[in-house]
Amino acid sequence: MSLEFYKLLHLTGVFMLIFSLGGVIVHAINGGTKQSNKFRKGIMATHGIGLLLILFGGFGLLARLGLVSEFPMWSVAKILIWLTLGGVIGVIYRKPASARSLWFFLIMLAVLAAFLGIYKPV
Ligand code: HEM
Repeated sequence: MSLEFYKLLHLTGVFMLIFSLGGVIVHAINGGTKQSNKFRKGIMATHGIGLLLILFGGFGLLARLGLVSEFPMWSVAKILIWLTLGGVIGVIYRKPASARSLWFFLIMLAVLAAFLGIYKPV
């Protein structure tokens, strides 16, 4: 599969992930709980499939760029960001008071992931 295809897959995953996190955050800010979320299954599926597409697309990109054996530091940092964005959905439900700050923090984290992928600093 081509670099372009993996990139499209990667970005599709990013959109799904960010969309689902945004939905859960707004729900939590409005006083909603996991149980009261009427789109709970849909959000969890979007979040999970998004994460898988990011991972699959990301490693496909690394392979196409010939960087799998090198595995640069920025790609390790991206995996840590990926893990954080995967785990944080539970935190939002458990600590709704953190939802507002997470809204801004997660945007910054996603921008950092994009920066690392685009500039490949180290
Ligand atoms: C498993 C973790 C990840 C890996 C291995 C990975 C890998 C990559 C690679 C290799 C590129 C460079 C593509 C190129 O130069 O053609 C890239 C670009 C990018 N990544 Fe990731 N990534 C990961 C996670 C993430 C996450 C969590 C986000 C955002 C939430 C993200 C957003 C982006 C964006 C926006 C680009 C720019 C796409 C472009 O070049 O047009 N990545 N990623």
